[in-house]
Amino acid sequence: MSVYDHIEDLDADDASLLADARAVTQFAYAPYSNFSVGAVARLVNGEIVTGTNQENASYPAGICAERTLMSVASSLYPGIGIDTIAVSYHNQKGSSDRPISPCGICRQSFAEFQQRTGNPIRLILSGMEGKIQVIENAAFLLPLGFGSDDMK
Ligand code: THU
Repeated sequence: MSVYDHIEDLDADDASLLADARAVTQFAYAPYSNFSVGAVARLVNGEIVTGTNQENASYPAGICAERTLMSVASSLYPGIGIDTIAVSYHNQKGSSDRPISPCGICRQSFAEFQQRTGNPIRLILSGMEGKIQVIENAAFLLPLGFGSDDMK
């Protein structure tokens, strides 16, 4: 994992992705947690897709920004791999200056997405400000994970 102090320290493509992830937090629907998350991906075909968290009064019906994004990507561009995903958040009740840590269900979903497309997903994790973590392969976030091979 690489850690950067400022968005200006990233290369232009990564900086643009993170700036977009910060910007799309405004499209989250998070009236229950007040924690608005934005995710933006660059696919291997160069297309850009976005996702935000979408909550529900029936709390478990809500979905994280990362899985919204993967559903959008897979629906618009089936079978196309994801090169890089940037994720940011705006915590309306606190600070937004630490890198976001994707939840366990999203880690599982990253693992299956990259396994089925054959492309490792790079992750850029940050908040609205502060440090930026770059992880070269989302599989690093889920050691000993369960997958389709385990059902053979
Ligand atoms: N959330 C995300 O969308 N992504 C993350 O990486 C962490 C959490 C959402 C789920 C819920 O809507 C809110 O943030 C608080 O957990």
